[in-house]
Amino acid sequence: MFESLELLPPDAIIGLITECRNDPRDPKVDLGIGVYRNAAGETPVLDVVKRAEQRLIDTQASKAYIGSAGPADFNEAMRDLTFAGTVANDRVAMLQTPGGSGSLRVAAGVILRAREDTTVWVSSPTWANHVPLLGGAGLNLKPYAYYDETTKALDLDGMLDSLRGIPKGDIVLLHTCCHNPTGIDPDEAQWRAIADVIVERELLPFVDIAYQGFATDLDADAFLIRELAGRVPEMLVANSCSKNFGLYRDRVGALFVVTADSNARDVVQSQANNVVRTIYSMPPDHGAAVVAMILDDDKLRADWIEELTEMRERLCEMRQLLHDALREEAPDHDFSHLVRAKGMFCFLGVSPEQVSRLKKEHSVYMVDSSRINIAGITADNVGHIARSVAAVL
Ligand code: LMR
Repeated sequence: MFESLELLPPDAIIGLITECRNDPRDPKVDLGIGVYRNAAGETPVLDVVKRAEQRLIDTQASKAYIGSAGPADFNEAMRDLTFAGTVANDRVAMLQTPGGSGSLRVAAGVILRAREDTTVWVSSPTWANHVPLLGGAGLNLKPYAYYDETTKALDLDGMLDSLRGIPKGDIVLLHTCCHNPTGIDPDEAQWRAIADVIVERELLPFVDIAYQGFATDLDADAFLIRELAGRVPEMLVANSCSKNFGLYRDRVGALFVVTADSNARDVVQSQANNVVRTIYSMPPDHGAAVVAMILDDDKLRADWIEELTEMRERLCEMRQLLHDALREEAPDHDFSHLVRAKGMFCFLGVSPEQVSRLKKEHSVYMVDSSRINIAGITADNVGHIARSVAAVL
């Protein structure tokens, strides 16, 4: 039977982990997959997570099944972190999911049950896995304008024009902060203008918030969600704890579906639970229990915010460091967009051929689009990165 299958190339982002790991050369730099790294180039478990895990081991009395929607304390704490009371609780269906990807996949299942022929509009460009994940689930996808390659900035007019052309009732997927892959986010005034068109055209917003706390802070990064919450009758939100809690492999995410009223909430909740039951039955609990413990304990929560702030500040410093090193090594080229971007990613702005040369000739790894993970930069490797980029320009 399986002889009919073809060998696939490695995943464009995940494949880079192995490729870089297997490269025997020194120095080598992994600017590929989006994981946070500290100044030593490591991704340690957050201190606050270690402490919560220890407390969990000491106090957890059972590992019996919880249910398809996951634990209520996690869902409630994540709902408050996301919406901060801007929507009535009885309008929100909520589920803990296996990571942000699990949240997107469950959302796709619910959308397809509600309206099979709907189209989800995604930014051009968007996260490399949005299209395979949502399209693979069966959704129609189309792009809307977002990024201007020439100015390396938000194409707000193009975006608003695109949104104005979307048929009423279609879904618009938006990255509320730290846009992946460009790092270019609308500011609050621009988000308001975007929300105006969403309201006017009666579009259904689907917000992906995978980096809450990595751009400005936990509240500012949820601005779009809270702005829309008061203005639209329905909305989907996919949140992820992979990055801000460093729980990548534990797979912790959340899906929220804002509905018109509590009756609709009950219906959507039952459908979403059933979607989960037909895919993975129930989500993994360990990471979610850790997150709930941190969010519900004042001291742990304050310590988490401190660690999160440290991560965010390091990203800002590394952007500036790379920008300055490139100005030194390649003075004829403008890399100012690096410091305008927010969060973990931005485009370096070189061609796929140059990306390939960076890999082959200099052991500097990044996604083909030239998306770089800023967290992969350290004071030790920035010189190598900048010299390598200058050499291929
Ligand atoms: C990324 O974009 O690198 C991360 O979101 C990890 C992934 O799954 O692609």
